Amino acid sequence: MENIFDTHAHYDDESFDGDRDILLPKLKSRGVSLVINCGCDLKSDKSTIELCKKYDFIYAAVGIHPHEAEAAGEHDLDEVRELLKYEKAVAIGEIGLDYHYDFSPRELQKEYFEKQIILSKELDIPIIVHDREAHEDTMELLRKYRPKGVLHCFSGSVETAKEIISLGMYIGLGGAVTFKNARKPLEVAGYVPIDRLLLETDAPYMTPVPFRGKRNDSAMISYSAIKIAEVRGTDVQTVINAANENGKRLFGIK
Ligand code: NI
Repeated sequence: MENIFDTHAHYDDESFDGDRDILLPKLKSRGVSLVINCGCDLKSDKSTIELCKKYDFIYAAVGIHPHEAEAAGEHDLDEVRELLKYEKAVAIGEIGLDYHYDFSPRELQKEYFEKQIILSKELDIPIIVHDREAHEDTMELLRKYRPKGVLHCFSGSVETAKEIISLGMYIGLGGAVTFKNARKPLEVAGYVPIDRLLLETDAPYMTPVPFRGKRNDSAMISYSAIKIAEVRGTDVQTVINAANENGKRLFGIK
């Protein structure tokens, strides 16, 4: 397999500290052509940009994750705006709502999400959305502003996927389609129009079967792509190529 575009990874994560600069140069020979590294707070946003400077195939999403809303400083969003001036910063992410962990108060999560959506509209760049057990509030804001972007690690129903598509957004699928209880993600994988599908890892998390429990990396996308191709009745390289084109279109990468 070749031409893999991993639209969501966290290579700044400490689990890569021991071998980051051994792993990343080898990704190309394992079929990976592009990666978007997603920051979660200012520190990881800055590390993300450092990775982009070091590796030509890595692009940046910078933003404040809902987990980090409470810890964020008064001027962090101004700094995010500054970081977005960097030419390889192609999205605001990851941003959104997480009512599973509730690491930040919900009102504050919503405030940060909304402010960053507004920023994306102003700058005309896409957002990468994290929605965990917060479908209603997430959809309310997406309906209100109609930003460009992707619902990352999509965990909703086909009905919700339809609405996301009708808003003009993309659906990001990854390791979850390989899991034992993957009924919903697979239904969505079968439904998503081929021109709205993105592939992603969320590395180091969401490792696909048969590597559950190990650290994920972008080359393992092939296992998710195989599953998606299976339910769509097509071949895996077709899925990977379409997702690559979609990612380049959404994030404005040539
Ligand atoms: Ni993530």
